[in-house]
Amino acid sequence: MSEQVNKLVDNFGRHIDYIRLSVTDRCDFRCVYCMTEDMTFLPRSEILSLEELYLVAKAFTELGVKKIRLTGGEPMVRTDVMSLIEKLGALPGLEELLLTTNGAQLDKYAPALKSAGVNRINISIDSLDAERFKRISRVGKLEKVLAGIEAARAAEFDRIRLNSVIMRGYNEDEVIPLTEYALDRNIDIAFIEEMPLGEASDHDREDTTCSNEWVRNVIEEKYELLNSTAKTAGPSRYVQVVNKPSCIGFISPVTHNFCEDCNRVRVTVEGRLLLCLGNEHSIDLRDILRDEAKSHDDLKQAIVASMDIKPERHYFYDKDHEQPVRLMNMTGG
Ligand code: GTP
Ligand code: 5AD
Ligand code: SF4
Repeated sequence: MSEQVNKLVDNFGRHIDYIRLSVTDRCDFRCVYCMTEDMTFLPRSEILSLEELYLVAKAFTELGVKKIRLTGGEPMVRTDVMSLIEKLGALPGLEELLLTTNGAQLDKYAPALKSAGVNRINISIDSLDAERFKRISRVGKLEKVLAGIEAARAAEFDRIRLNSVIMRGYNEDEVIPLTEYALDRNIDIAFIEEMPLGEASDHDREDTTCSNEWVRNVIEEKYELLNSTAKTAGPSRYVQVVNKPSCIGFISPVTHNFCEDCNRVRVTVEGRLLLCLGNEHSIDLRDILRDEAKSHDDLKQAIVASMDIKPERHYFYDKDHEQPVRLMNMTGG
């Protein structure tokens, strides 16, 4: 491989060292902000095999990517996903292997994930009330997720972070209970503003989206918050409660654009390399992977060339710009 293709830098000088690899578009939940109730999923022939996913990850690490976050849908519903995770854990050059999950299967898989080399886990949880949890996830069982969180704690990952999307009319009164649940367990929590990715079928997002500023004010009515220097690979800004080890994160894609620091790209399970969560710019890696005339180096060259089309930023809710039609389960967040 020639010298000029060993770095992923886009036209805005941003270095890409983090990929979010979606291993399935399927999920055992149907969260209202992520999916419609009657989703159809991709047929098997259209999704990358575990071997193809591995080759994509390998190509990226050879180009300087240091962090891989596995996403979905729900990554743990992919058959035999542990065999892929074990191989990724052994990839030379990879510094962090991360997982974003709904937690429902962690009671079964947490020890194996830790042994395979997963460093940090983010677990989505939007309510601590079983009925509410069901309303938001449409089918999920809160008790399974709570058991998953305990299993992840027992497995001693470097860090565990809860992810909560706070929505007016669904769970805006749970900011304090969710925060205290994390504080009591010395784990982190991030509050995420609901993003307009595809149409939500049960509500109008403009009515439900709660700004992180509002969430922060609610927490500050009870706790004094200190800005924290903690940093993860992602877009979260962290604060801490005095004398508590947990970090409280705010991910504000709607009210604060953090695109100038973007260090990541996404690969969908169809093999589409998406250059931005909020735009459609992409290249097709599956075509290259399945073309017998193309080599691993061709795959790497295509990835390097794709940096040219990475958009500067997303424009959520800006009427002058087209809004994404992709639902989150296709993108992996
Ligand atoms: P850490 O490495 O722990 O910081 O992870 P993360 O926050 O990047 O990952 P996670 O999968 O937990 O995602 C949390 C939320 O951040 C999800 O709603 C993602 O969609 C959102 N997110 C992650 N990266 C981006 C991004 O580049 N742009 C936007 N708009 N949202 C993002
Ligand atoms: N807006 C914001 N966050 C979302 N997630 C899924 N869909 C959306 C959306 N429309 C979150 C999930 C999970 C992470 C990957 O993305 O709750 O924590
Ligand atoms: Fe599944 Fe996560 Fe989407 Fe909920 S947000 S339906 S858990 S992929």
